[in-house]
Amino acid sequence: MNCKPRILIARAISPEVVQRLEQHFEVESNQDDVIWSPQELVQKLQGKDGVLTTGSQTIDAALLAACPQLKIVANMAVGYNNFDVPAMTAAGVQGTNAPDVLTETTADFGFALLMATARRLTESEHYLRAGKWTSWRYDLFAGAEVHGSTLGIIGMGRIGQGIARRGAHGFGMKVIYHNRSRLAPELEAECKARYVSKAELLASADHVVLVLPFTQENHHTIGAAELAQMKPTATLINIARGGIVDDAALARALRDKRIAAAGLDVFEGEPAVHPDLLTVPNVVLTPHIASATMGTRLAMADLAASNLIAFFEGREVLTPVNK
Ligand code: DGY
Repeated sequence: MNCKPRILIARAISPEVVQRLEQHFEVESNQDDVIWSPQELVQKLQGKDGVLTTGSQTIDAALLAACPQLKIVANMAVGYNNFDVPAMTAAGVQGTNAPDVLTETTADFGFALLMATARRLTESEHYLRAGKWTSWRYDLFAGAEVHGSTLGIIGMGRIGQGIARRGAHGFGMKVIYHNRSRLAPELEAECKARYVSKAELLASADHVVLVLPFTQENHHTIGAAELAQMKPTATLINIARGGIVDDAALARALRDKRIAAAGLDVFEGEPAVHPDLLTVPNVVLTPHIASATMGTRLAMADLAASNLIAFFEGREVLTPVNK
C-alpha cells in the first residue's frame, strides 16, 4: 500500500525538483503548465495533502473550505499576497514562501530595469528596428544620469538593500530609503543609505525603486498625488507587485511627461496590462521576470520542496509565513 503523502505541483517547475519530490510523495504535477481556473485548482486539490504554488494561485478561505485534506501550501515566491494567511492559520494550514534565494538575482534585475529606463534602452531599440535611425544627433535618446544621481528605495528589505548596495558601491549614487522601520545603523552604513520620509524621498530622488511587499495598506502607495510630488525628470521602477502603483494614474503621468519614464515588471491584474501603458513610449515593460534565471528559479522551487519535505517528515519548515 502506498502511504506517501499526496501533493500537487500547480505549475511547471524545474524537472529536477519534480524528481526530488517524487522520491518523497505521490506527485501530480502540472508540467504541461496549464493555467487552471480557481475551480479547476480546487478539483485538482481533492485528496491532496500539500501543494507547491508559484504565487499566481489564490489560497483563500473558500479554497481551504473546499479542500479539507490540505495541510501545507509552499509558495515558490518570496511574496505571498496570494495567501490569505489568517484564513490559512484558522484552517490549520501551514504556509511557506521562498525568500533569500532570489535576493541578488532580483536586485540585479531591479538595477537592469533602472538602467534600461533611465537610458531609454527599449525605446531606442524599437526606433532602430523600425528603420528610423538616419544619423547621430547630440540629443538622440538622451536619458537620465544614473551614476552620481539620487536613488530612492521604498521597501528596504533584503532586495531593497541589494539594490542600495549596487547603487551606492557600483554607481556612486546617493541612496535614500523609506521603510516601515529604520534599518540597524550598521546596515545603513553598509548600504550607504539614509532614512527619509516618503514625501522627502519622492521629492528628491532621481530614480524611485519600489521593493515593498503588497498588503492592503500598500494598495496604490504610488498614485496621482505621489507622482505629482516626484521630479519631472525622475523615473519610477516597480519590481514589487502590481497594485502598489495606480497604473492608470502612472500612464497619465507618463503621457503628460509629469515624470520622465517608468520601468515596470509587475502590473495590476497581470498578466493583463493597463492598455494606456502600452501606448506610451517612455515605459519599459517586462513580464514579471525579476527572479527569472534558471539557477534562481531552481533554487526557489527547491526551497519550496524542502519545506514540503520537512513538513511531512515532522520537522520545522524552513521559511514559514504563519504559525
Ligand atoms: C516573488 O518571489 O515574489 C516573485 O515575484 C515571483 O517571481
